[in-house]
Amino acid sequence: MSSIKDSKLAELGLEEVSWAHRQMQVLTEIKEEFSISKPLDGLNIGACMHVTKETANLMLTLKAAGANVALCASNPLSTNDAVAAFLAEQDIEVHAIRGVSNDEFFQHLNRVLDTNPDITMDDGADLVTLLHTDRMDISILGSMEETTTGVIRLKSMEKNNKLRFPVVAVNDSDTKHLFDNRFGTGQSSMDGVVRATDLLIAGLNVVVFGFGDCGKGVAERAYGMGAKVTVVEPDSVRALEAMMHGYEVKNSLSAAKIADVIITVTGNRHVLDKTHFDAMKDGVVLANAGHFDVEINLVELRKNSKNVKRIREHVDSYQYGDKEILILGEGRLVNLTVATGHPASVMDMSFANQALAAEWIKNNNGKLENKVYTLPKAVDQKIAATKLKLMGGELEVLTSDQVTYLDSWEFGTS
Ligand SMILES: NC(=O)c1ccc[n+]([C@@H]2O[C@H](COP(=O)([O-])OP(=O)(O)OC[C@H]3O[C@@H](n4cnc5c(N)ncnc54)[C@H](O)[C@@H]3O)[C@@H](O)[C@H]2O)c1
Repeated sequence: MSSIKDSKLAELGLEEVSWAHRQMQVLTEIKEEFSISKPLDGLNIGACMHVTKETANLMLTLKAAGANVALCASNPLSTNDAVAAFLAEQDIEVHAIRGVSNDEFFQHLNRVLDTNPDITMDDGADLVTLLHTDRMDISILGSMEETTTGVIRLKSMEKNNKLRFPVVAVNDSDTKHLFDNRFGTGQSSMDGVVRATDLLIAGLNVVVFGFGDCGKGVAERAYGMGAKVTVVEPDSVRALEAMMHGYEVKNSLSAAKIADVIITVTGNRHVLDKTHFDAMKDGVVLANAGHFDVEINLVELRKNSKNVKRIREHVDSYQYGDKEILILGEGRLVNLTVATGHPASVMDMSFANQALAAEWIKNNNGKLENKVYTLPKAVDQKIAATKLKLMGGELEVLTSDQVTYLDSWEFGTS
């Protein structure tokens, strides 16, 4: 039986899911194919994902493919309770309630594993971690991972020969990380900052920690809104790339001193710590868009603050010495806790990859090693071509002469 907040929210959930569905045409095409071919017939799929209107469309696609689906949340604050209620009515076992305690959060993960999944799907490797610790009793065909932080964990497990089954790093598909991480996280993180604060971004010093796919997106959107953007990045090539984009590039301490708004998106921990809090301006706004809530050292901030109070929805004021430091969304993914996550149009491609990854694991059962795999490039090309066409773009087709020329080494200056 599902654990959800209120089944009466199901109708509202349907409206939300239908709204996202309009923007998810690639996934819809896959769903139509899957409802005929039934590639996942009879399989149990256990998913731990943000319970959003976009995820709902993925769950319905897996169901259309013949799978029995169970879903829990990958973050206690990102669940849309109406979407959870709607999915529970669709014969999907849902364990997700916005704002649950840590204990309940882990109970929900275990309830999904109690369904004995054949394939699991994670956003942050929480199910996989349990399958390697408390739930070693369960054997699965394989798993899929949605985000960079999860993939880093899984590659470390592979390197140490700890991985018990094959995993597809969906994040590493080009049609995922080059679009979802960049355009999705970029837009929705700035959306989260603005929704929580109503700040005018134009003219502010916005500092972005991390210039990976996500950081690039956040910096671009902040710059587009008129911010003076500064990037903090330990990788010299990426730091140089940020410089040539026209951003300031500073170390963490110099950046902390000038910031009006800081957004962390590194996948690392304690990138903002006591030395930074000490250096910050009064009234600075801190938000995190990285996967876990460890990027801002909130334990240290709280320890050294005289008073902490919620001053408006999603904004906590920490009285730190004689200044105020403002934390958005409790330091958890600001785009999902304050705003509503990535737009459906970009999740369309991420979730097309997830659906095809489930089929790929099933079709390659017995042939895969306990490694982290990326989907074949042909899948990326197919998803990108479909999306491009749906968005009204035209793809150039090479002549056979041009294909021969590019494949040859004999032709040079004529
Ligand atoms: N908010 C979302 O919806 C969302 C979406 C996708 C990914 N993510 C998460 O965002 C994080 C970043 O993802 P990504 O794909 O950009 O990863 P990435 O590996 O491409 O980039 C991370 C960057 O952070 C830099 N970095 C590491 N430690 C740092 C530090 N102390 N200070 C400054 N920079 C530092 C790294 O050098 C790297 O360039 C991950 O945790 C990922 O799981 C969030």
